[in-house]
Amino acid sequence: MATSTIPLARGLPVVGNVFDMARDMRAFLTDNYQELGPVYGMRLLNRRFTVLAGVEANRFLARHGTKHFRSFEFWSGLNAWFGAARSTLSADGAEHAAFRRTLKRGYSREYAVEHMGGMIDIARREIAAWPQDRPMAAVPALQRIVTDQVGTLVAGVSPRPYNDDLVCYVHGLLSATIVPRPYLRWSPRFRRASARVDELYHEVIECHSGTMRERHGAAPDLIDDLLDLHEEDPKFFPEADLKMAAMGPFVAALDTVASTCAFMLYALLRNPDVLEKVREEADTLLAGDVPAEQALRKMDAMHRAAMETMRMYPVTPLLVRTAANSFEFAGHRIPAGEQVMIATAVPHYLSEFFPEPERFDIDRYTPARAEHKQPYVYAPFGLGPHRCLGNGFAEVQIAATMATILHEVDLDPDRADYSLKTTQMPLPAPDESFKVRVRGRRGAPQPLAEPKPWGALGAVLGGALWGALGAEAAREAFRSLSPAHLSRRQLSR
Ligand code: HEM
Repeated sequence: MATSTIPLARGLPVVGNVFDMARDMRAFLTDNYQELGPVYGMRLLNRRFTVLAGVEANRFLARHGTKHFRSFEFWSGLNAWFGAARSTLSADGAEHAAFRRTLKRGYSREYAVEHMGGMIDIARREIAAWPQDRPMAAVPALQRIVTDQVGTLVAGVSPRPYNDDLVCYVHGLLSATIVPRPYLRWSPRFRRASARVDELYHEVIECHSGTMRERHGAAPDLIDDLLDLHEEDPKFFPEADLKMAAMGPFVAALDTVASTCAFMLYALLRNPDVLEKVREEADTLLAGDVPAEQALRKMDAMHRAAMETMRMYPVTPLLVRTAANSFEFAGHRIPAGEQVMIATAVPHYLSEFFPEPERFDIDRYTPARAEHKQPYVYAPFGLGPHRCLGNGFAEVQIAATMATILHEVDLDPDRADYSLKTTQMPLPAPDESFKVRVRGRRGAPQPLAEPKPWGALGAVLGGALWGALGAEAAREAFRSLSPAHLSRRQLSR
């Protein structure tokens, strides 16, 4: 019979654990797990949460998440900002399963593999604009790449002109989901960003309207699937709920894939031996001699480096839920209605599962060691019914983006002695002090002397363009000749 009192994490009067979480949430959650056990209380201002942590919490979430946890309360604030009553994130039970069925194809790994050429083209175009030998903040540069990739390829519209507004809007909303920010409504900057996101939404819908769809003749994407669901069952999926779902592709990668790539860049720059292995694979992928799917499967070091990045630097180290039904956990009774935080990433830092957890070691994932295969210890994409639907997509996107960067440029940290500083809001990410410099360009067109990858004719053309236009313009001219470079909207014109 579970009766004992749940211990409370030490915190400050009034603010509780706000500063601990803002400093380093994974350290706070892990330290308290080690000190207090798998269940403890914490406070963020006036909100109290019961934290469930450790491998036992992950097991419980995976096995009993559907019955005992509800997502609605945590995400309903975000729904309200979009004017939606429901969303995939906030839905539970049968309704939630129906949403996932609709989104599955557009967010799948297969869809990402099919569009990997487009992802690489977008990354190349952005990297071509990176300044030479000047410090550049890594996270915003990566955000521009990944939101453009997901927006263009999953929703048919490039969000490039909206980038700053998207970042302002999404960061505002996600932060408000965690700590209420009523003043956002009156912030001129946020209101402007919100109006611009509306414009983007209308562009997306316009681009998928009947006549446009027929005209561009492109294969259906996620937005088409959402519009079909709305047409088939407008009561279940009304127009008022469409905006939030349609903006999903622009939001999903912004603070997840971009921050993961930034953490990975940091880790690779600190581990030159791993960087070399990953770069060799990137060069094979980008040489284009092997079909993309095959080359992707051969990127073993890349895959393991991404896994290790997501273990050490998980961008979603916890999930928030409401207890839908009372339950017992680790000797304690959690009553229905309790706000629960499941600290899914805590096992990532426990040495009994991952020896020397502070060491970046990609050999953990070799078949001989397979540390991540111990049940419920590795959960970068969450667990249970809401486990990330875009996990396969994200893995392909991370590999394609990192491969293109490593293939195209030699990078240095801005300061050789730099040691990582993070921000935790809205999700953990390297902060603006993480800057890199382009030391040199590797994937530049080579006139005559090295005719690859265009062959002899390409080399002559490349040489002529190179001489006449300069390196950047020549690269851009070549890229624009590639059919994969044409976005869906360009094709529709
Ligand atoms: C490193 C990259 C990513 C990480 C770490 C990540 C992590 C997560 C996590 C932890 C959740 C569960 C949230 C919850 O349970 O409350 C989630 C949900 C989701 N993610 Fe991701 N995500 C990533 C990238 C992506 C991408 C690129 C896409 C789409 C292209 C995507 C689409 C989704 C969707 C649609 C859901 C909602 C699933 C549901 O509620 O059933 N994610 N993600």
